[in-house]
Amino acid sequence: MNFHPTEEQDMVVRMVRTFVEKEVTPVASALDHACTFPEALVKQLGEMGLMGAFIPSEFGGSGMDLLSYVFAMEEISKAWASLGVIMTVNNSLVCDPIHRFGNADQKERFLKPLAQGNKLGCYALTEAGAGSDAGAIATQAISDGDDYILKGSKRFITNGKHADIALVYAVTDAALGKKGISAFIVETSRPGFIVSKTEEKMGLHGSDTAELVFQDCRVPKENLLGTKNAGFKIALATLDGGRIGIAAQALGIAQACLETAVAYAKEREQFGKAIAEFQMIRWMIADMQVEIDAARLLIHRAAWLRQTGKPMTLQAAQAKLYASEMANRVAYKAVQIFGGYGYMKEFPVERFYRDARITTLYEGTSEIQRIVIARSLLQTN
Ligand code: CAA
Repeated sequence: MNFHPTEEQDMVVRMVRTFVEKEVTPVASALDHACTFPEALVKQLGEMGLMGAFIPSEFGGSGMDLLSYVFAMEEISKAWASLGVIMTVNNSLVCDPIHRFGNADQKERFLKPLAQGNKLGCYALTEAGAGSDAGAIATQAISDGDDYILKGSKRFITNGKHADIALVYAVTDAALGKKGISAFIVETSRPGFIVSKTEEKMGLHGSDTAELVFQDCRVPKENLLGTKNAGFKIALATLDGGRIGIAAQALGIAQACLETAVAYAKEREQFGKAIAEFQMIRWMIADMQVEIDAARLLIHRAAWLRQTGKPMTLQAAQAKLYASEMANRVAYKAVQIFGGYGYMKEFPVERFYRDARITTLYEGTSEIQRIVIARSLLQTN
C-alpha cells in the first residue's frame, strides 16, 4: 500500500474541494435546516462523474479507483453528510452490485443512467421486522409467467422517495429461508411501487428516508439480478463495499468537526486568552486528530483491499465500526469545545453531531460489525 496519493487521486480531491467550497458549504446548513433534498447538487455530482465514481467508463462511470471515491466521499461529507449518503448509496449499494452481478442488458439499461447520474438509485433491503437480521425479510416475489409479483414493504430506505431505480430484495423460495432470497432491479415508476411515508429524522435532513410498499408490483423476470435465490449473498457482498462508503462519510464528518473546533478554539477567548491556550482544549484536539487519522488508515486499507480484489469483509467492518464510533466521540468533543454555542443551529457543529449519530446504525450497526469481526476471527457463527 502506497501512502502517497496518485496524481488522479490528487486531482479528484482538488476537483471535489473546489465544488464543495463553491456549491455545497455555502448552502448546506440552510438546506439541511429546511429539510431540502438537494436535487441540483445531486445533478452536479452526476456531471462530475461522482455518482458512478468507480464504475468503468463503458458503463457510464468515471472509472476512478476506490480510494479516489473514498477521498471524494470524505470531502463531500465534510461539507454535508446528507449529500454524502445520497452519493454513497447510489455508488456502493446500487451501481456496484449491478456492475458485479448484472448481465450486459441490465448494465446497459440500468447501470449506465445510474452511473452517469441521470437516474438515482436506492437499496431496499431493510423491513420493519428485518433490520440487523436482514435474512429475515418477508417481502415476497411470486413467480407469474414472465414476471415476478412483489408483495410487502421496506423501511428506512435512503433515497427511497427520489429514486428512479430500486434494488429490492424479496423472498422467492420461503422454504429455503435466507437461501431463498433474490435481488431485483425495479423501476420505481412501475404500478404498485408506492412511497408510503418519509421519515422525520434526528439528522441527515437533506436526505430522504422512505417507507416503500409493493402492492402486487409486477417486475419482469429479466430484472432479476444475478441468479434466483442468490440475493442474500449479493446483499452482504454489496454491504462490504457500502460500509467503506459510510466509514468515509463518518471520517468526513469528524474532519469537519476537527477543523471547525480548531478554528473556533483559536478565536474564542475566555479568562483573557484564546481557549486554544488551555491544555484541556489542546488535549481534546490532539485526541480528535489521532482518532481521525487511525480511522482514515483503516478505511484506506479496506478500500485498497477491495480495489485489488482481496478479501476485505473483516477490514470493511473494522473501518466502519471504528470510523463511526470515532465520529461520534469527535463530534461530542467539537460541541464541547464550542460550549453553549455548539448547541445552537447558528454553528454547524450541532449538525455534525446529529449527522454523526446515524453512522453507527445504518449499513450494519456497530454491534453487527462486531459480529462480523468476531466471526471472522473465530470462524464460527
Ligand atoms: N459476502 C458474501 N457472502 C457472505 C458475506 C459477505 N460479506 N457474509 C456472509 N456471506 C454468506 C455466508 O457465507 C453464508 O453463505 P452459506 O449459506 O453458503 O454458508 C450466507 O452469506 C449467509 O451468511 P450468514 O449465515 O452469516 O448470515 P446471517 O443471517 O447470520 O447474517 C449478518 C449475517 C452479518 C448479521 C447480516 O445479516 C448483516 O450484515 N446484517 C446487517 C444488515 C445491514 O447491514 N443492513 C443495512 C441495510 S442497508 C442501509 O442501511 C442503507 C442505508 O440506509 C444507507
